[in-house]
Amino acid sequence: QDSVQMSECLFFEGLPMPSILTNVETLCFAREEFLVRDDDVIIVSYPRSGTHWIIEILNLIHVNGDPTWIQTVPVFLRSPWIEDAHLQKDLINRNGPRLMVSHLPVQLFPRSYFNCNAKVVYILRNPKDIITSLYHVSRGFVCKKQPENFDEFLNRFIKGDVHYGSWFDHTLGWIKKRDMGSFLLIFYEELQRDPRGSVEKICQFLGKKLKPEEIDLVIRNSSFSAMKENKMSDHFAMDGRMQKVIIAPMLRKGVSGDWKNHFTVAQSEDFDKLFQEKMSRLDPGLFPWF
Ligand code: A3P
Repeated sequence: QDSVQMSECLFFEGLPMPSILTNVETLCFAREEFLVRDDDVIIVSYPRSGTHWIIEILNLIHVNGDPTWIQTVPVFLRSPWIEDAHLQKDLINRNGPRLMVSHLPVQLFPRSYFNCNAKVVYILRNPKDIITSLYHVSRGFVCKKQPENFDEFLNRFIKGDVHYGSWFDHTLGWIKKRDMGSFLLIFYEELQRDPRGSVEKICQFLGKKLKPEEIDLVIRNSSFSAMKENKMSDHFAMDGRMQKVIIAPMLRKGVSGDWKNHFTVAQSEDFDKLFQEKMSRLDPGLFPWF
């Protein structure tokens, strides 16, 4: 089933991957040959979990809160995706500590990571909000087969028939690796509830000391309104490949709980049941949502 090319997706190891961003050669190289270095920091997530928010925060921490960099360089050039066919070479050639991003599930992630001391920041979000967010993005695809309605999309999501495959598999795969090496788990909801505490936690993880006023700058310049105003933060609008196919904004509502405006009571109860079944092997106190 490898490399079955479709209009907006290719299958790699049985998973639907976005052909706008990646290809089989880049994915093979990512897993087999891409050399992760000890001083790398990698943001890992399932799409629509708040990846771009965390990128903005880590970029700002790097420059002590000064917004010049984030306001002049597009987000995907500041911190490229490892699986990005256009930017993988650029990443390989970058000197010094790299801040990279990936939506890859653990089984497709660079093997070299598992034998080094690189840091991973993994961001998690209530999957019901991810479904809601992804549903709106899917409706903003120009040439993609648009979901007919929310129910159809919800079923596709549950089956893993979306880019990067099943949210459950992605999350389970990564969470099981969290005790291995340097791994920081951040929740989208926690970032919203306690931005200062979250930024301090990230700084501590990165070994970076920021003054209180620099932390204020990080928080202010990565707020939803600041990012919405900063064109460089909108991956969809800045990346020529995405411009052609997606008309949805990268930053939509930026809230927690919008799922309540989309799920029926029955859909919500069924999803909760499925969540309990699929995640039962993990500590039930780990996730703050259900
Ligand atoms: P919504 O569609 O619910 O608004 P990702 O970057 O992983 O694709 O995630 C995109 C989601 O993160 C979008 O969710 C987007 O609005 C939200 N987001 C991005 N920056 C944010 C911020 N500064 N504050 C809150 N939410 C943010």
